[in-house]
Amino acid sequence: MAQDAKNGSTDAVVAASGAGHADDGLSAGTAVIPADAIPNPGHPPHRKRVTDTNPKKEKRAERTVFTLFFLSIIGSIGAIAAYIAFPIENGNHEMVRMSTLFVGLGMALALFGIGVAAIHWGKALMNDKEGIDERHPVRGDDATREEAAEIFHLANEESGFGRRTLIRNSLIGALVAFPLPGVVLLRSLAPHDQDPVALLKETMWDKGVRLTRDPSGTPIKASDVTIGSVFHVIPEGLNELEHDKLNAKAKAIVLLMRLKPEDLIEDENRKGWSYDGIVAYSKVCTHVGCPVALYEQQTHHLLCPCHQSQFDVTRHCEVIFGPAKRPLPQLPITVNDEGYLVAQSDFTEPVGPSFWERLS
Ligand code: FES
Repeated sequence: MAQDAKNGSTDAVVAASGAGHADDGLSAGTAVIPADAIPNPGHPPHRKRVTDTNPKKEKRAERTVFTLFFLSIIGSIGAIAAYIAFPIENGNHEMVRMSTLFVGLGMALALFGIGVAAIHWGKALMNDKEGIDERHPVRGDDATREEAAEIFHLANEESGFGRRTLIRNSLIGALVAFPLPGVVLLRSLAPHDQDPVALLKETMWDKGVRLTRDPSGTPIKASDVTIGSVFHVIPEGLNELEHDKLNAKAKAIVLLMRLKPEDLIEDENRKGWSYDGIVAYSKVCTHVGCPVALYEQQTHHLLCPCHQSQFDVTRHCEVIFGPAKRPLPQLPITVNDEGYLVAQSDFTEPVGPSFWERLS
C-alpha cells in the first residue's frame, strides 16, 4: 500500500510504520506525506544594474570605491598619529584613554573603509553575469592549471582590476597602510629608555620593606597571621606610587600563609626565608601569569584557576600538577623590631611565566 513519493505520483502516501501489516497486529498510521513537491521556480530573470547601463553612475561608483579606500588609508595614518600624539609611557590614565580611543577609531575606520569599498566594488562594478559551475574532481593536471590561469585572467578582465588603475592602486595603498598601526604598536613592548629584562627582574621588594595588606596597605604583624590564614600582600609604599602603579603591583604581589613550622619541608639554604611557619610566595603563576589565588588550607596546595597548575606550599611551592614548569618564587621574609613582617631582599629570581627565566 505504501508508495514512493519520489516517483512523482500524485497519490498521498501513508507513511506510518506497520501500514499494510494488519496481520502483524500493528495498526496503520495516519501521517501523510504529500507526493507533490513545490516545483522549482528557477532563477528570476536577470536584471541589469544601473551601473551596467549608465556610464555616469558607473563612474560615480568607481569614485565611491576610491574614496572608501582612501578613507581607510586616512584611518591607518590617523591611528599612527594618535599613538604618537598620546604617549602612554608616563602612566597617565587620561593619556591611556585617549590613546586607546583614537588608535581604535583610526583602525576601525581603516578596516571599515577596506570592507565597505570591497563590497561596493563587487556589487556595483564587478561583472554581474550569472553562470553555473559544474562539479568536477579536484586534480592538479596541466589542463586544470591552464583552466585556473584562464579563470584568473577572466576575473581580472571582469573585475577590471588591471584596467581600473585608480581603484587597484588605492586598494593596494589601503592594504599596505592597514597593518602599519599594529607594527607601530609593537614598540610599546620594549620601552626605548629602559632595559626590559631589568624591568621584569626587579620588583619593589627590598631589604626592610614591610609587607602590607592588599589593597589597604596596612602593615602586617607576624602575630596577625594565624595558622591556616592567607593574606594578599603588596609592598609598603605601593599605594603612594604616582606612576606605573599597576605594573609595579603586577610584579610584586605576594601570597602570605602560615603553616605549622613542622609542616614545612625547607631546603637547607632557605631555612631562614620563612618566619615561624609564615611563608611568602609570588602570586603570579609561572605558567602564563594568572594570579594564583586559591589556597587549600588542609593540603597546603595553591591552585591557579587558569589552567589548574598546583603548587605545594610545604615544599617551596614546587609544581605538583598542571602546565607550570617551575615553582613560585619565594620572597625571603623576617620581622623587624616592632614585630612587623618585612622582606629580607627582592625575589632572587624573576617572577611570572617561565619564559622570563631565559632572560636571567
Ligand atoms: S596561568 Fe596558571 S596554570 Fe596557566
